[in-house]
Amino acid sequence: MEQLRTISCGIESLDKLLGGFRTPSTILIAGTAGVGKTILSLQMLSEAARGGEKTLYIPITTEKEHKLKMYHSTLDFFDGSFQVHAINRQLSEKDPLTTLIDIGNVIESVKPDRLVIDPITPLGFGFVEQERRRFFYTLDSILQERDMLTLLVGELVREELHRSVVSHLSDGIIYLSRADTDARADHHLEFIKMRGIDPGKRSEITACKYIYDITSSGFTVYPRLKPEEDFRLDDSRVEAGIPGLDGMLGGGMIKYSSTLVAGRPGTGKKIFGLQFIHQGLQNGEPGLIITFEDSPHQLLMDAKRMGWDLMPYMETGLLRFICTNPGNMYPAEHSIRIKNNIEKTGAIRVFFEGINSLEMSIPDHLKLRSYLHSLTSYLKSKNITSLFTTDTTSCDCPGDEMIDFAYLMDSVVVLHSSTVNSRMYMNVTKSRGTKHKNAVKEYSITEEGIKLRTDTLLI
Ligand SMILES: Nc1ncnc2c1ncn2[C@@H]1O[C@H](COP(=O)(O)OP(=O)(O)OP(=O)(O)O)[C@@H](O)[C@H]1O
Ligand SMILES: [Mg+2]
Repeated sequence: MEQLRTISCGIESLDKLLGGFRTPSTILIAGTAGVGKTILSLQMLSEAARGGEKTLYIPITTEKEHKLKMYHSTLDFFDGSFQVHAINRQLSEKDPLTTLIDIGNVIESVKPDRLVIDPITPLGFGFVEQERRRFFYTLDSILQERDMLTLLVGELVREELHRSVVSHLSDGIIYLSRADTDARADHHLEFIKMRGIDPGKRSEITACKYIYDITSSGFTVYPRLKPEEDFRLDDSRVEAGIPGLDGMLGGGMIKYSSTLVAGRPGTGKKIFGLQFIHQGLQNGEPGLIITFEDSPHQLLMDAKRMGWDLMPYMETGLLRFICTNPGNMYPAEHSIRIKNNIEKTGAIRVFFEGINSLEMSIPDHLKLRSYLHSLTSYLKSKNITSLFTTDTTSCDCPGDEMIDFAYLMDSVVVLHSSTVNSRMYMNVTKSRGTKHKNAVKEYSITEEGIKLRTDTLLI
């Protein structure tokens, strides 16, 4: 009996999610106009051709072959390495049976390992439903005669998928769609069906929508950021780097914890974060700074003003930055960049500057919460000590309920400046897993950073 084999999809990010395609099989790549169906299938074909597979592309089109080539040559991966057999779209709609014979003949002569028919759905357009079904069953039996992977492109909207005969004949369905918001368009990829893969993986991948992106280097699907599997939490303590604060936190920050530093503009949140990172660097701990508003250069200058020269750490790779314009930020892409960076550098301290800037890129509060939740869970599962800062606006000394996302963090430190005497105060309003001191302490920003005064002001 013929065995199912696993082969690369031809797209690294899809392989990571799926573990590859099973072959022989038929996969339907469906979606509306311009969502990237052709690019996805051509990239899968090009990579397979490069890997030594015999590949065939059957475009069903009104366009001339040289125009198609010109258009596709804007894509880096396109090198014309696959064989092309174009079929005129008008003819195929008028005379589908001749098209069927044509497809059968070209498959017979090329004997491909991987085939793309783009698009398949206009075939049999003029048929009544029953004839159309019969037509597709015949096509299916032609395809099944060969041990190959067939990628069928379908011009279908989601609602049509469930009643389309092509969906029923396919072993897998990848559905691409576009969601327009005020700010930008997001592209989503869904696995509607995927036969032959591990049931656990199948239920995981069919349960969510993945963001994807098309650039001239092709198609990238962003996986969801997930906590590490089988992790063990390390609850040892690390120095915060702010003299006097470790005592307030019951002996330092818990290694795996996340801390939110909240305060109005000018209360020293950025210095707080830099001081925390600098402390780690002095201990030889790799650090990562994630920023939206400031460039690495700006932050290096801010640190230098406090007497901390971070440049040598940057040069040796102990300190890294991820700097993103919040207007162009895709949450799924951003979180995967953070993950890749951490995995590459082994960062054990992360400073995430200004989570309020994220509201611009993720205006939907639920999505923003989900983004931060998956990020903090991932960092925790890696035993990374993380520090996030956020701006508060409404009052001098807000309670946690007034601070967005305080509930997602293990500890919350509030910085506030008094309107009466323009002095600055700090208190730890929450510290999970620690008997913290519920005290308000005065602090000052000196030339060596933030320092707490030893006298407790309020209890
Ligand atoms: N070189 C390129 N760099 C970046 N993006 C590109 C490039 N070429 C095309 N695109 C993007 O890809 C999309 C079109 O992709 P594609 O032609 O694969 O869509 P499609 O789903 O096959 O559409 P149709 O149903 O009209 O055939 C466009 O939205 C375009 O913005
Ligand atoms: Mg197309």
